[in-house]
Amino acid sequence: MHPKDLVTQTFRQRFGKDPAYLALAPGRVNILGEHVDYNDGFVMPAAIDRATYIAFSPLDDNSERSTLVAANFAEEVSFTPQGIPTKTAADGSPLPEWACYPAGVAWALTEAGHPAPALNAAFASGVPRGSGLSSSASVEMAFAIAWQTLSDWELPPMQRALLGQKAENQYVGVNCGIMDQFASACGVADKFLLLDCRSLEWQTLPVPEDVAIVIADTSVRRKLTDGTYNQRRQACEDALKILSVHLPGIKALRDVSLDDFNQFSDQLPGLVEKRARHVVEEIERSRRAIPLLEQGNIRAFGQIMNECHASLRDLYEVSIPELNTMVEIAQSLPGCFGARLTGAGFGGCTVNLVEKTAAQAFAADLARQYEAKTGLKPEIYICRASDGARLVQDKS
Ligand code: GLA
Repeated sequence: MHPKDLVTQTFRQRFGKDPAYLALAPGRVNILGEHVDYNDGFVMPAAIDRATYIAFSPLDDNSERSTLVAANFAEEVSFTPQGIPTKTAADGSPLPEWACYPAGVAWALTEAGHPAPALNAAFASGVPRGSGLSSSASVEMAFAIAWQTLSDWELPPMQRALLGQKAENQYVGVNCGIMDQFASACGVADKFLLLDCRSLEWQTLPVPEDVAIVIADTSVRRKLTDGTYNQRRQACEDALKILSVHLPGIKALRDVSLDDFNQFSDQLPGLVEKRARHVVEEIERSRRAIPLLEQGNIRAFGQIMNECHASLRDLYEVSIPELNTMVEIAQSLPGCFGARLTGAGFGGCTVNLVEKTAAQAFAADLARQYEAKTGLKPEIYICRASDGARLVQDKS
């Protein structure tokens, strides 16, 4: 069932009437600029046509007790504002992990002086969890819309994104950058987004007319709450600290040119050097890639995507054999301009830019060859860049 119908039906069953509102927030795919958002670099994501939906209503009484139903796994939890800071449900038990994303958003909003009124809600995600397409950011941004709808405050999308990031960093405990929440909040139909993660200035870039964005899900799942992501971020911070002895004034790896990095890289411990080299080179790659995309030179742009994958595999070491297999097959198929893992890595999806006329055949061949090699059934789909989180007017 489509998540839009699932949440509406679940809401009716659980709360005995129609929801007052329906909102959605998309997942995202990142085209270029991986693991650089928390180093003040440039990222190029797009919001996708898969989203988290939330059906919700304010409470009829003056109760402060919110009830959330996670329709994907038929679970529910209730909490009050008093329980949020300690991650405690209304019955005194710890909040389940899935509830920490919405509760974290309520916490971050309240901390920022924008109270999150109690609500009844059913939500479900069309963004597969652990797939590298930012299901968690989409849940956060969907709830931010819900709370905004029921309040007298209104925040610009980027502010909602920043509060979602704060929730994830300080409440959920994943030290992520701003990219995912930004893309989910600020997405624009049929466009790539280009964000400067330092200034937070952003613009859209055209998706070239004859190019399809193909997402290939290895069907291997990962979890960022296990600490692997935070370790990568820590390595970047370690590198910055050592390099700043030699390069005073640098505030992030973004400030380190490739020449400077090469000059001082022998000061870094081996593993830290590899991690930081990926970041410095990836930021350099995105600087080269932006004009290529603007000029419509998709072939050269695709080459840079391929280089990005190699760097994530060999230097940042966030790939896995299944992602490498998916990328190798894709790169050998006709019509493929570029292919690489997308998002944090450790499992999940690849992103491919493919000649539009070849896209169907590409998807079929990629699925067949991947399954033959790994024994796993992948999901491959041609995706459309979409608008960001919003209320859905038509609830039918
Ligand atoms: C995850 C994080 C993002 C970003 C990517 C890697 O998706 O949430 O902030 O760091 O990994 O580019």
